Amino acid sequence: MVDAATPSRKDAGDGKAFYVTTPIYYVNDAPHIGHAYTTVAADVLARWHRQRGETVWFLTGTDEHGQKVMRSAEANGVSPRAWADRLVETAWKPVLSTIDASNDDFIRTTETRHTERVREFWNHLYDARQVYPGTYEGPYCVSCEEFKLPNELLDGEDGAKLCPIHGRPVEMLSETNYFFKLSAFTDKLLAYYEEHPEFVQPESARNEVVAFVKQGLQDLSITRSTFNWGIPVPWDDDHVLYVWIDALLNYVTAAGYRTDPLLFKRVWPADVHLVGKDILRFHAVIWPAMLMAAGLPLPRTVFAHGWLLVGGEKMSKTKLTGIAPSQIVDTFGSDAFRYYFLRAIQFGSDGSFSWEQISAIYTSELANGLGNLASRVAAMVGRYFGGTLPAPAAAGPAETALAERLAETVRIADEAMGGLRFHEALAAIDSFTDAVNGYLTEQEPWKVAKDDSPAARDRVATILYTAAESLRAISVLHNPVMPKSAAALWKELGAAETLGELDLQPLTNAGRWGLLPPGSVITKGEPLFPRIEEPDTK
Ligand code: MSP
Repeated sequence: MVDAATPSRKDAGDGKAFYVTTPIYYVNDAPHIGHAYTTVAADVLARWHRQRGETVWFLTGTDEHGQKVMRSAEANGVSPRAWADRLVETAWKPVLSTIDASNDDFIRTTETRHTERVREFWNHLYDARQVYPGTYEGPYCVSCEEFKLPNELLDGEDGAKLCPIHGRPVEMLSETNYFFKLSAFTDKLLAYYEEHPEFVQPESARNEVVAFVKQGLQDLSITRSTFNWGIPVPWDDDHVLYVWIDALLNYVTAAGYRTDPLLFKRVWPADVHLVGKDILRFHAVIWPAMLMAAGLPLPRTVFAHGWLLVGGEKMSKTKLTGIAPSQIVDTFGSDAFRYYFLRAIQFGSDGSFSWEQISAIYTSELANGLGNLASRVAAMVGRYFGGTLPAPAAAGPAETALAERLAETVRIADEAMGGLRFHEALAAIDSFTDAVNGYLTEQEPWKVAKDDSPAARDRVATILYTAAESLRAISVLHNPVMPKSAAALWKELGAAETLGELDLQPLTNAGRWGLLPPGSVITKGEPLFPRIEEPDTK
C-alpha cells in the first residue's frame, strides 16, 4: 500500500483523481483467487493510470458486518469483532502484498470513519422521508446477504428452495423493519442508463440490469432486528442497518464524505467500481438510487467481470473449491499471477483456472518470450560492446517497421486498458515482444558480428539498439501489470541512470522511438522468469 494521505502523484490538471475501487470483501473466510482476480484487475488499472501520469485513488477493504460474518465468528467461538480483526490482519491485508496491490487506502466497515458517516447518511434519508417502517416477508440467502425473489430460486430436495448462486437453502424472513423507497427510482434509473450507456458495462451486464429494472423495483428492507452485528439504526436502537446498504457507502466514507471535503472533491465520483457479476445489481441499481436520494453524483462506470469457475461452477469457499492466491504465487511469482488471469480470461466473461494453462502461458509468453528476449539482448550487448549500448547507425526498413509497430502497440494497449479489455492490451504487448524476438531471429546479429568490417559493426549496433529500445518500451508497458519483472528489466537496461525511475516514465510517450540513450550500461541479470519445477497440484 502506498502512503494514504493524499491521492498519489500529481493530478491531470482538473484536480480530479482517477478513482477505482474493488468490492469490499466479506471477512467470513480467507481470500481465494476469485477475490484476488478483482483486486489484480483494479490494481492494474490503477497502475496503468498512474503510468499515464494521472492522479489515482485506489481503494479496497473489508465488509465486516452482517449474518454471514457473525455466523463464522460464532462457529469459531469468538466475537464478530475479534474474528474480523483476525481475518483482516492474517488474511486480507497480507494477500494484498502477495499479489502486489498498490492500494492508496484500505477501509474496514467497522471503523468509526465509516460507521458514523453511514449513520448520518441514513439519518438524512430518514429525515427526508425516503425511509418508512414496514414488514418484510420473503426468502433470504445469508451467503449472498441478499433478499431473493421467489421466482429466482432453484428447487432442492424435500421441497427446499435454493439460492441460485450458492446452491444452499434460503431462509424465510418475517420481520418488522424499515424500507428504503427504492421503487420510486425505477424511472429515474432507466432514464439514467439510457443517458449514460457507459454506466453499466459490459453490454451484457447493462442489458441484464435494464431488463431487471424494467420489471419495476420493490422497496428495499434496510434494517434487521433479529441479530445485532451491524451499524445501529440512528432512529431506532432495536435495529441494525442491512449489511449491503452499510457496505456500499464505503466508496464515499473512505473518500472523505462529510469529513474531508478536499479529498472528497478530488476523488468522488468514482471512475470505475469493479465488481463480480453476482453483485452487479447492488452496484448498478441500489447504489445509484441511494446516491440519487442523497443528491450525490453517481460513479461513471460499474464494470461487472465474470467468475473463476471450478468444474463449471463459481469457485467458492462455501463449496470448498477455493484456491489460495499464495498456492499459485509461490510457484509462478506475483507477476505471472497478475499477467495470467488478465491475459487468459476476457474481462467480463467467466473463465477456468488450470495449472496446465498458467504453465503454458508462463513458459511461452513470459520465460521463452519476454525473458528470453531480455537475456539475449543483454548477452549480446555484453559480448559485442562490452555492456555499453551502442548508437544505432541508419535505420533500415526492418527497424522502421518495428518502431511503427511499437507506436501502434502503445495506442492499442492504451485504448484497450481504457475500455477494461485487459486481455486485448496484453495480447498486443505480447505480440510486439514476439515481433522483436522475430526481428532478432531474422537479422541474426550473431552472424553479422562475424564480419569485423565497420559496416558490419554498425549493423550489429543498429540491431542491438533496436532490440534494447524495444525492451525499454516493453518495461514501461508491462510495469502496471508485472511491476517486479518490469523493474528488473529496467535495471538491466541501465535505464534508471539515464531516463530516471520506471514509475515516472509517461506511458503516453512509451511509443516514441529512440528514448533509451546510447551509452546506457546494460547488464545481464537473473532470468526474469526462471524455469519452473512442475507445481505440486496434488
Ligand atoms: N461484501 C460484498 C461486496 C460489498 S461491495 C460494497 C461481497 N463480498 S465477497 O467477498 O463475497 O465478494 C467480493 C468479490 O469477489 C465480488 O466481486 C465477487 O464477485 C468476487 N468473487 C468471489 N468469488 C469469485 C469467483 N469465483 N470468481 C471471480 N470473482 C469472484 O460480495
